[in-house]
Amino acid sequence: MTKPEAAAKPGRERPEASARPGAELRRRYTAADLDVFTRDEASRFVPRGDGDPQDDMILAWELLYRLEPELYDRLARAERLHPEVVGWLPCGVSRIAEVGAGTGRLTMELIGRGQHVVAVEPALPLRRILRRKLAAAEGGERVRVVSGFFDQLPLADCSADLVVACSAFTPAPGHGGETGLAEMERVCGPGGCVAIVWPNHLDWLAARGYRYVSFPGSMAVEFDSYHEAVELAEIFYPQAADDVRRRGLRKVPFELLRMNPPRDVAFKVLTG
Ligand SMILES: C[S@@+](CC[C@H](N)C(=O)[O-])C[C@H]1O[C@@H](n2cnc3c(N)ncnc32)[C@H](O)[C@@H]1O
Repeated sequence: MTKPEAAAKPGRERPEASARPGAELRRRYTAADLDVFTRDEASRFVPRGDGDPQDDMILAWELLYRLEPELYDRLARAERLHPEVVGWLPCGVSRIAEVGAGTGRLTMELIGRGQHVVAVEPALPLRRILRRKLAAAEGGERVRVVSGFFDQLPLADCSADLVVACSAFTPAPGHGGETGLAEMERVCGPGGCVAIVWPNHLDWLAARGYRYVSFPGSMAVEFDSYHEAVELAEIFYPQAADDVRRRGLRKVPFELLRMNPPRDVAFKVLTG
């Protein structure tokens, strides 16, 4: 595991990632780690100024992105999207905007689907990994990576034909909410499509005019090796770690991990 890319604030020793080897995500970070957030991040993720990542898993994920981005990337690489999700998204469009792009699980698939792609991602360490991947990919220069948040997208009105978020949008204000959804729709032109890939809170989206499509078939998380399956299960799916160990294989069905697979999309085609 590599050293975190996020720059720790001066004057404070931050534990090496290796100091927390097998700790599950819920136990990995403490309130002392919250100072990794920029002011803009803190205003969204810890609006009251405090929080405990051992009580608040959403906060723990945000710390993971900044303190151990390579670890997050290993997980995202294993949790692959259903191929029909990518195939379903509009292709051959001129402009695509993705919000909460992370290390590019979806972004890398968008390279071939739009002439211009902009990937908005607030966490600097994730943007660095995404830029590195794009630099090595054919057509990667068509993707512009920028900093930004759902509730204040740094993009002009009607500047994209497809605005998409993958495993990033939630109804919570710090992770999208009403303002974030309105922002995605503002950026999407008439006739364009706003798509939430791997959505949670389907009722919330349906009440706002979003339709739903889901693709069938068995799906498994595809780790690089059995060793990695066990290592990452202990951190990210501790409830299933014993099952993963017993199974003895690098591919682990989503059902075994007790999570819904990335096989679905909530979407809205905007009228003119
Ligand atoms: C589970 S990751 C998904 C990343 C990537 N889309 C993928 O599928 O691997 C959630 C992402 O949402 C981003 N995110 C969190 N809060 C956000 C916000 N308010 N605005 C934009 N992105 C946000 C995180 O930085 C992270 O990259």
